[in-house]
Amino acid sequence: MSLATDAPVSPALAAYPGVEGRLFRAGGREDLAAYRAAGGYADVADLERLLDEVDEAGVRGRGGAAFPIATKIRTVRGGRGVPVAVANGEEGEPASVKDRWLLRTRPHLVLDGLRLASLMVGADEVHVYVSDPEAAASVTAGLAELRGAGVWDAEVTVTVVEPTYVAGEETAAVQAIDGGPALPTDKPPRPFEAGVRGRPTLVSNVETLAHLPLVQRLGSTGYRGLGTVASPGTFLLTLSGCAATGLYEVPFGVTLTELLTWLGEDPAQVDGVLMGGYFSGVLGRQVLDVPLEYDAVKALHSGLGCGAVGVLAAGTCPVTVSAAVMAYFARENAGQCGSCFNGTAAMSAVLDALRDSRAEAEDVQRLTDWSVRLRGRGACGTLDGATNVAAALLREFPDAVGAHLDGTCATCAAADEQPVPRVPFAVALPTAA
Ligand SMILES: Cc1cc2nc3c(=O)[nH]c(=O)nc-3n(C[C@H](O)[C@H](O)[C@H](O)COP(=O)(O)O)c2cc1C
Ligand code: SF4
Repeated sequence: MSLATDAPVSPALAAYPGVEGRLFRAGGREDLAAYRAAGGYADVADLERLLDEVDEAGVRGRGGAAFPIATKIRTVRGGRGVPVAVANGEEGEPASVKDRWLLRTRPHLVLDGLRLASLMVGADEVHVYVSDPEAAASVTAGLAELRGAGVWDAEVTVTVVEPTYVAGEETAAVQAIDGGPALPTDKPPRPFEAGVRGRPTLVSNVETLAHLPLVQRLGSTGYRGLGTVASPGTFLLTLSGCAATGLYEVPFGVTLTELLTWLGEDPAQVDGVLMGGYFSGVLGRQVLDVPLEYDAVKALHSGLGCGAVGVLAAGTCPVTVSAAVMAYFARENAGQCGSCFNGTAAMSAVLDALRDSRAEAEDVQRLTDWSVRLRGRGACGTLDGATNVAAALLREFPDAVGAHLDGTCATCAAADEQPVPRVPFAVALPTAA
């Protein structure tokens, strides 16, 4: 089980049956010639029409918040000053590899999306923001291929930062591009109001951008041929914690039971999941038959986030997992805001004590209070993620919490002192993917 080791697991790569010709492409890195031969970098006859198509296609942000990109483009271009466009490929989430895979393997799909977004928003300054050296090399090579090719002559700057959990937050990206540290800043202003060098800035996740050429090619109706009404299209799902650990392109609306069965996993052997990467905490077995789309997962008081799903295989203790994720937040928060620095440390101390059956009922009551009171504090959403982790455990697995208070957790007793990884559900791409 991948939870038993700190070594990141290399993923399998595949598209769900019925998903063809969208994000997933077999083989190695797609160069400019291959991308153009498949119809990439197509001329834009009418920018307003394209923006309307993107709106009608209902493309939602794949970086975590699921915000409609057409709305964001309209807001940014209506701001004060000439807009800036940023492709956010930093991907600090340990349980996700989709953005790195896209940048390493399909750099031109992302750059084409960035081209379309820059044109629609009217940007005269364009950036790609990453931390993975191989992704940076792939994008830089893609930009070199574009030079003189006559398809897009914008100057695109690639900014490479050290990978951290918070570096991909949008104000951290803006501050790093402006030459500062990759740390979140206070809001307001948000980047759409005043971002890079104070100008209205479109910060979009690289997967979000990769969907734009698909809309251009398929039209909004064709794009909506997969997915659900409120979450149209496909998304990249990073699955971990099971033998089928991998990166899969799936239509919104598929259930985990369907996905796991397709992959040869037995859903009966699954006790729940860590949903949306580290941000949304654990969910019990009821998630197995819920359509994987933004609103249905939100109705479970959780979030699909960046599409990372960690499987809690039978025999995995949700208290242990939640304690490991909270400890990660306590280590990885940027230490800038007292409420986050102290709050994550305090919640981590309680979860560690609970995991080791040293906690009292009053400690769990304090954790319950903090999971409500600390929400919305801090410069970025990290503390919200941490409170989600605490609240989700208390809500979804009260029996496991009770068993840990009593020192009677059968799962942990049977676990035979298995080492708990510092970074559970971590996934890594093999180099030169
Ligand atoms: C703590 C934190 C970390 C984040 N990390 C990332 C990241 O690594 N990549 C990303 O695209 N968005 C990340 N986001 C979300 C961004 O702030 C921003 O909403 C996103 O890049 C917008 O793109 P989208 O609208 O295409 O989803 C993070 C947010 C928070 C609160
Ligand atoms: S909320 Fe936490 S992670 Fe975010 S900037 Fe403040 S200290 Fe850093």
